[in-house]
Amino acid sequence: METNVENIRAVLKKPIVMIGLMGAGKTKIGGLLAKSLDLPFVDADHEIERAAGCTIPEIFERDGETTFRDMERRIIARLLSDDVKVIATGGGAVMNEHTAALIWSSSISVWLKADLDILVDRTSRNNKRPLLQNGNPAEILQTLMDKRYPVYGKANIVVESTPAEPEHTLDNLLAALADHLQKTG
Ligand code: S3P
Repeated sequence: METNVENIRAVLKKPIVMIGLMGAGKTKIGGLLAKSLDLPFVDADHEIERAAGCTIPEIFERDGETTFRDMERRIIARLLSDDVKVIATGGGAVMNEHTAALIWSSSISVWLKADLDILVDRTSRNNKRPLLQNGNPAEILQTLMDKRYPVYGKANIVVESTPAEPEHTLDNLLAALADHLQKTG
């Protein structure tokens, strides 16, 4: 992977944005990617919580999803406007047309794609996701897949997130990234 890392670093001019459903591994894999490329890593959800001074469930509860989406758009716009880095976004970020337009135009977007059972398993480990608290998480995630996958499909790169070691997904992502950069210059 050393060759890929060197090639990527030599030509990378835009931030890399991780997109995909809740539980796909955007924070985990995005963090590993940043480390291997020696770039800063930022999780947009953490930045929103930091700016709001409370958790995402609290923002949804207190101000509603529309306010959350607006904060998310502003934070992502700021993160995209400065130095090259890896950014993990929340699963709904690209469903807002303004946020999506920013991501498509100013970054290399990576869709981490995972099977439903993996998403259900990973998201069942905590209750930090307000969209999964009212109803059957598998049904909700399936509905979100149907709605969001056509939009996630616009990403520059698609990488499967499997139950294998995260380093395996990272290796596939580095190879896909090197390939994308070679094709797009
Ligand atoms: C959301 C995903 C969450 C978070 C919020 C809404 C979504 O982030 O932004 O709960 O709409 O899919 P993760 O994808 O990191 O869980």
